[in-house]
Amino acid sequence: MEVVITASPHAAGQVAADAIQRLLVGSTTPVLGLATGSSPLPIYRELIRRHQERGLSFATTTVFLLDEYVGSGPGRFDANRAFIQRELTAHVDLPRGALHGPDGAISNLDTAGATYELLLSDAGGIDLQILGIGSDGHIGFNEPGSSLASRTRLKTLTTETRNDNARFFGGQAEDVPRHVVTQGIGTVLDARHLILIATGEHKAEPVAKAIEGPVTAMVPASALQLHPHVTAIVDEPAASLLRRSTYYRDAFDHKPEWQHI
Ligand code: F6R
Repeated sequence: MEVVITASPHAAGQVAADAIQRLLVGSTTPVLGLATGSSPLPIYRELIRRHQERGLSFATTTVFLLDEYVGSGPGRFDANRAFIQRELTAHVDLPRGALHGPDGAISNLDTAGATYELLLSDAGGIDLQILGIGSDGHIGFNEPGSSLASRTRLKTLTTETRNDNARFFGGQAEDVPRHVVTQGIGTVLDARHLILIATGEHKAEPVAKAIEGPVTAMVPASALQLHPHVTAIVDEPAASLLRRSTYYRDAFDHKPEWQHI
């Protein structure tokens, strides 16, 4: 795993946006996997800026969401889709119909996981997947204890995650849906390149466990250690508990010119 330590969340967003730009420019049919939440916002702001100022185009891109809330009304079973539209896709030239997410409608839960897996494989899999990390170490909404081989399915959120995400639902944890449909850890590991972005001191502990701790279902993000191409982009506060930060900085500073993240 490559670990990139940046001076600010903005700089973290730029490093990730560079990798996405390289994919979009270099592929005729790029497939991008996106996360919601606060962590990727600097990436999305930077991509919008590059689209508006430099013409970075999403015209042939397909986007897949990591996860979706389950619910019975607008604003609940499509909250993550609405989030990505608001924070990114409404501001770039992604074609209509090119944004896909798991189906969180209660009536479709029996088939939602298998349908999404099929959609992903029909698209040829994800080239580059953006991930955040939960304070309990989750990726996607794979809470601690999730099978490291899991596929897209229904999950129940922990109280910790519902508290963390109350800010996206008007501030009340009770208003955060209890259930989600999420790509499994096995599904996430199928993407060809994974970029984990984490910023702020509150992410220092899960980041250290994920990057330097043992691989365990109790820290779902530790499964990233099993993937051959992962880039963890963390700002200094989020990196503060990493024991090998001197090495990570040294390796990044002396990266061969021809080698990109
Ligand atoms: C969101 C997702 C989650 C978040 C994680 C961190 O689609 O999959 O794993 O990435 O909960 O959220 P933030 O970035 O808001 O701290």
